[in-house]
Order: sequence, then C-alpha cells, then structure tokens
Amino acid sequence: MEGLLDARLRAVVTRAADYDWCVSEFVRVTGSLLPARSFLKAAPELRAGACTPAGTPVRVQLLGSDPERLAENAARLLALRPAGIDLNFGCPAPQVNRHRGGAVLLAEPSLLHDIASAVAAASGGRVPVTAKMRLGIRDTSLAIEAAQALAEGGAEMLVVHARTRDQAYRPPAHWAWVARIAAAVRIPVVANGEIWTLDDYLRCRAESGLVDVMLGRGALADPFLACRIRDWLAGRQGPREEGAWARLLPMIAEYWQRVRLEVAPRHAPGRLKQWLNLLQRHFPEADRLFRTVRGESDPIAIDATISALDAQSAAGGPVDHHQSRGSDSG
Ligand SMILES: Cc1cc2nc3c(=O)[nH]c(=O)nc-3n(C[C@H](O)[C@H](O)[C@H](O)COP(=O)(O)O)c2cc1C
Repeated sequence: MEGLLDARLRAVVTRAADYDWCVSEFVRVTGSLLPARSFLKAAPELRAGACTPAGTPVRVQLLGSDPERLAENAARLLALRPAGIDLNFGCPAPQVNRHRGGAVLLAEPSLLHDIASAVAAASGGRVPVTAKMRLGIRDTSLAIEAAQALAEGGAEMLVVHARTRDQAYRPPAHWAWVARIAAAVRIPVVANGEIWTLDDYLRCRAESGLVDVMLGRGALADPFLACRIRDWLAGRQGPREEGAWARLLPMIAEYWQRVRLEVAPRHAPGRLKQWLNLLQRHFPEADRLFRTVRGESDPIAIDATISALDAQSAAGGPVDHHQSRGSDSG
C-alpha cells in the first residue's frame, strides 16, 4: 500500500502472522526503462531473495498503461528475481488516473488484455503474473469483461478489490461481485476490501464464495488478523485478545527503530502515526498511544515514549502511556 505499507512495516507485520505472499508499493512505469534502483526502492527485499525477514515472498507491483514499456520494465525487474509481478488496475488517485494509470484503465478491457499478455510473455512463466482490479470506474458494467480480458491475456490470478474507483475506500465492499467475477474466469480469484475482523472474513467468504482473501488495512489495524483467520480455518483457537497489545509493543518498537534508521527525522513521526491511526481501530491502547504522540514532531521525544513502553512490556508490567515522556495532546 503506497505510502503506508513499505518494507519496514512489511518486515514487522509478516513476522506477526503467516502470509502466502505480499505485494510492494507500486512502481510507476511511464516512458522509460527504469533503473534497477527504482524496483529496489519499492522492494528492498529484492536484495534478500525477494522475501521479508520472516520469509514471506514479496511480489512487485507495476502500474502503467503502455504494454510494451511495461513488458520491458518487467524484463528488467525479472533480473532482480521478484517473487512475482502484480499489475495495478485499482489505484483511484486522481493524479495517477490522469496519467492513465490504475483504475482508470478498467474502461479499456482490450488494453488490459494487451498489458497482461505483454507482461506474461516477458515473464515467460518464470514468476506468477497477477493483477489487482476494482469493479469499475463509476459503475460495474465492465467488471466481468475487464476480469476476463486480464485472465485471457495471461494473468494467473486476480485480486478483486470489491468497490468501484468512485467508491474509493468507503464501506461496504461488494463481495458478491467477486463471486460473479470468479464464476466468469478460469483463474483463481482472491477477494479484497473491508476485512477488518474474523467476522468480516466469514461474511466475505459467504458472499464471495471464496476462501482466499487479501488483507489490506485490516492487516495493519490488527496484525494478528491473518492468524485469527488461519486458526479458524484449521479449527484451532485463535490468538487471545488478552495480552495482544503487549505482544504488539515490541513490534511497534521495532518498526519505530527501522523508521528512525532510514527515514528523515521530519518524516519519521508521521510514519508511526499512520500505523497507530490504523491500530487504534482494534486496540484501545493504540488510541492512547496515538494521542500521546499525535502532537509530537520531535523523533527524540517519541524515542523516549516508545522505549519506555517497550521496557514496561518486557518487564511484564502494566503498560501505561502516561508514565512515558511525550505530549499528550488529548
Ligand atoms: C494508503 C493506501 C495505499 C494503497 N496503495 C495500494 C497500492 O500501491 N497498490 C494496490 O494494489 N493497492 C493499494 N491500496 C489498496 C489496498 O491494497 C486494498 O485493495 C484496499 O485498501 C481495500 O482493502 P482493505 O479494505 O482491506 O484495506 C492502497 C490502500 C491504501 C489505504
């Protein structure tokens, strides 16, 4: 997820739960052949066997509209041995859509076909080529045609974000539409959108008829959600809610450490706040921590807040945000 789920956060969340694979932020392909560093920036894991430190394979996402340029860039990417190539036909951002990238291409099924076919040919079966789509731009009238074009072009799997572009990220997600798409193509389909809890997963499964889902924001709001789903599928008791926050604190501390090492100090607090903002949907403690750091722009003050919390959790004591330094701006 562009600007949100980068390699640092992937490293942390893929250790909390077992994922089949994950996807990098998108690499935008326009007129030129990109240098290797463009792919490495989006997916530094390419330097380490295209896996996160926990061993989760990382597929690299490309976004663009020119089949030939995409194929050329896919060939260059392949030299870096990604775990797969994913094609983005879901991005709703106006500045991306204006330049014919992302969801806006859903109006042109024949172009989708040509893109999938050019990139699949470049891959030559070396890695899976997958595509991520929405249900359409303004309406769903071309949803089936778009999915079929991608499948016939050579996409091996489709991830369907069950909303149109104009529905942006507003609930609900229309999971029943994913069932209609799955019935219309011969490749595996994965449902995506608005899965925040095990109950959401179960409802998505009932409405889409699919077992496989892709988690987006839900995996960041509750990093144990994938465990809850896997445990339910295996008939096991899921991770206990009690103690989950204490298990999460070292992960937050690790993420903050990674951000501190690699992100400019003026941008570092924002990265942490973005994750806490999602975590607070599931963890009341994250809400308190978010409010503690919300007004803080000094990374050194945040260092103190996070390390105090981490130390308290390591000592097994109560985790009290107000004992740590940092402005509680309420
Ligand atoms: C901040 C943000 C950035 C995103 N960036 C991407 C992206 O680069 N590529 C992509 O395929 N989807 C991207 N998405 C969409 C998500 O992958 C996912 O399809 C969408 O959020 C719906 O799933 P969810 O409700 O589980 O989050 C992004 C979503 C958000 C909120």
